[in-house]
Amino acid sequence: MRSRSRLTGFYRLGIAERRARLLEACGLPESRLAAIDPGALPLEVADGMIENVVGEYALPFAVAVNFVVDGVDVLVPMVVEEPSIVAAASNAARFARPGGFQTEASAPVMIGQIQVVQVDDVEAGAAALRASAPSILDDARRLVPRLADRGGGPVGFDVRILAHPPGPDGGVLVAHLHVDCRDAMGANLVNTLCEALAERVASVAGGRPGLRILSNLTDGRTITVRCRIEEQDAEVRAAVASASRFAELDPYRATTHNKGIMNGVDAVLVATGQDWRAVEAGAHAYAAHTGVYRPLATWQDDGGALVGELVMPLAVGTVGGALHSHPSARFALEMAGIDKADKLAAVAAAAGLATNLAALRALATEGIQRGHMSLHARGVARAAGATGELVELVAAELSACGDVKPDRAREVLARLKESP
Ligand code: MEV
Repeated sequence: MRSRSRLTGFYRLGIAERRARLLEACGLPESRLAAIDPGALPLEVADGMIENVVGEYALPFAVAVNFVVDGVDVLVPMVVEEPSIVAAASNAARFARPGGFQTEASAPVMIGQIQVVQVDDVEAGAAALRASAPSILDDARRLVPRLADRGGGPVGFDVRILAHPPGPDGGVLVAHLHVDCRDAMGANLVNTLCEALAERVASVAGGRPGLRILSNLTDGRTITVRCRIEEQDAEVRAAVASASRFAELDPYRATTHNKGIMNGVDAVLVATGQDWRAVEAGAHAYAAHTGVYRPLATWQDDGGALVGELVMPLAVGTVGGALHSHPSARFALEMAGIDKADKLAAVAAAAGLATNLAALRALATEGIQRGHMSLHARGVARAAGATGELVELVAAELSACGDVKPDRAREVLARLKESP
């Protein structure tokens, strides 16, 4: 076990004390914190990452505590601009702590698409491709020998007919190459394979190559996460289960429900340098794969506990991508003790199930605004000049009187400073 995630009172500490406890819990040297200090990403490295760089854009780097994922304590790195998400994740993880989050990952299989257009006889083209599948797969494997050495590589090839002639593109087929990408997210790998195979695939099908690119609907690379929350209050259990059913009945609600899941998932993905747009696109397409947009996670009241399950595609990598260049992303993986893509997917999904539960619990009981308001009150107190213990005192008074405004905060602060 690399780290202990139960850091009680972490949120009450100052930043310096939190950093010290984090190092202690992870067993990392103090020098590693430079990776999350302001300016950690050198400007010339940023300039090499994307085009037309003129500066950098900072976001808070936080740690969600209390997580136990597959029996292991994990300190969860989160980068996000929205208040309450880290607190919500940590709180829900505390409720889930006795049994923790259990996960199951599928093999990390990505799909590459090779489109073939202007096929005169699409039935014959598809049959020819199916007959050539074993030899196309052999060619594909020869293109990535190192991946095969690591236990991955192309594992499947299939074909679908998308359009019959006539039509603007004539007959259209799409071939899917399924590639086990191991610990890579796999976009570059899959795109390279599709480009290399496209001419051959098109010629076997009797058409012209069209697009060759991975699909972000990575339904061959899913993660399932479950947890059981002992909840004595039958009303709370019933209210959370009812909120879950609401999402199953209504796509408008399911969208917001899924947003609450992505609050946790994306914060981990951003912290660890992942392509969160790819995961977002895949998650929502998967949510709609039955033809109706549905919740990715559901909750049941089993009589004494709330039982939650989240299933979603989660294509992530612990090699390649931004991890080459971004010191904070590498630090995030290191502090969480994550060295494999399936572990990263498990932790991101656990964070998603946690933020989902926290949102449903708050919505189904006191409403979401109270928690938001107390965080907002702390922000206003700080902006008015409060530091240390005064932040909580000023925020508590602002929340109690319901007047969370800068002028009122300055007044309260001045009074407390005069007569503490
Ligand atoms: C806000 O960021 C997320 C929620 O709207 C999620 C939900 O409604 O389940 C609170």
